[in-house]
Amino acid sequence: MKKVLVIHGPNLNLLGRREPEVYGKEGLETINNEISREAKNLDISVDFFQSNSEGEIVDKIQQSAEGFSIIIINPAAYTHTSVAIRDALLAVHLPAIEVHLSNIYKREEFRKKSLISDIVIGQISGFGAYGYILAIRAAAKQIANLG
Ligand code: DQA
Repeated sequence: MKKVLVIHGPNLNLLGRREPEVYGKEGLETINNEISREAKNLDISVDFFQSNSEGEIVDKIQQSAEGFSIIIINPAAYTHTSVAIRDALLAVHLPAIEVHLSNIYKREEFRKKSLISDIVIGQISGFGAYGYILAIRAAAKQIANLG
């Protein structure tokens, strides 16, 4: 079975409690359960990883070169700062989908720049937790296209 890795960046472990008016009321565990349910419907397998540390996210991306077909990533604040995460994604040659709960283009100026938007297949931004459901469906399509 094809495997998808979902990576959640810093502070996403606080979802539900963290600025719920921006990021929604659902906690990360609930969101992951919803993604798992959708993945099961789509007949794909999914693993989750959350870290507040840039280095750990880079390590995880490097390790995912084997065993995963596609990465869904919300790098959170590192979206706007991390050349290291961008370089790791380029190094493993795995297709990736970028997700943001909030619409990063409707917020502060510094959030409008993503350092990975030009190297991912596509970006989903502004649909809250539903963005991950859209992403897992897009991942399933991508996997089917890859054959
Ligand atoms: C975020 C947007 C980022 O700007 C922010 O730093 C986050 C979450 C989102 O999902 O909307 O932590 O990636």
